[in-house]
Amino acid sequence: METKQTIAVFGATGHMGSAISKSLSKGSYRLLLLSQEDKELKGLQSEILSHSQTADAEAMKSPEHSQWKPDIFILAVPHSAEAEIAADIKELAKDKIVVSIANPINKDMSGSVLPPGTSAAEELQKLLPNSKVVKAFNTTFAADFSQPVIDGRQVDCFVAGNDEAAMKTVSELVKTAGFNPIISGDLSVSRTLESMQILLMQLTMKYNYNWLAGWKILH
Ligand SMILES: NC(=O)c1ccc[n+]([C@@H]2O[C@H](COP(=O)([O-])OP(=O)(O)OC[C@H]3O[C@@H](n4cnc5c(N)ncnc54)[C@H](OP(=O)(O)O)[C@@H]3O)[C@@H](O)[C@H]2O)c1
Repeated sequence: METKQTIAVFGATGHMGSAISKSLSKGSYRLLLLSQEDKELKGLQSEILSHSQTADAEAMKSPEHSQWKPDIFILAVPHSAEAEIAADIKELAKDKIVVSIANPINKDMSGSVLPPGTSAAEELQKLLPNSKVVKAFNTTFAADFSQPVIDGRQVDCFVAGNDEAAMKTVSELVKTAGFNPIISGDLSVSRTLESMQILLMQLTMKYNYNWLAGWKILH
């Protein structure tokens, strides 16, 4: 029997972390749910185990305490928290996939906190030079995970990275979550993807999309 891949989700009780964890429980994965919020975390684990026929789930504060060694790390945390987590997982995430979902948006949502010519994903790759950082899920709102088909169209989810095999693996996660993966280019494409989410957030507020909106490439 094939061993299930282990996916460690940091910030598992947050908006994105819980949406991603619940949607990936539709697949055949081991989910390592990580959070400091004990009560919410146990609730999330119970919910996942009671609904999923295929997924396993463990809940804890830090991945070092698990018997499962993560194959994939998803950082569902604010950009500002990524450096600390990167320092903690540097050894554990060696040669592994690290998914960057962060949008480094400033307080008034007018732009990025990063200077031009870089992105949250590229900064994370600098902190984790021996890991395979892949950008994904940054242009999908948390609410989209329970409704990845909007107005009859499956929302696209852009995937960018420097390692082809890692991008294919992440594309499978994207499909499990119900979105249409589009492998978009190398990690520097994250600059565009992170800007796209700033625009989508601005449009959502302007036109009251109720945080249920997404991108679709028509061709
Ligand atoms: N919300 C969206 O629709 C959306 C869409 C696309 C991308 N994103 C990106 O997804 C990431 C998470 O966003 P979110 O909306 O899910 O945020 P959220 O609901 O606030 O959840 C973030 C989680 O990160 C953890 N965390 C760890 N260190 C933290 C710190 N220093 N400060 C605050 N929280 C910390 C917290 O859990 P514990 O402390 O318990 O571990 C918290 O539950 C962000 O990078 C955001 O840009 C969000």
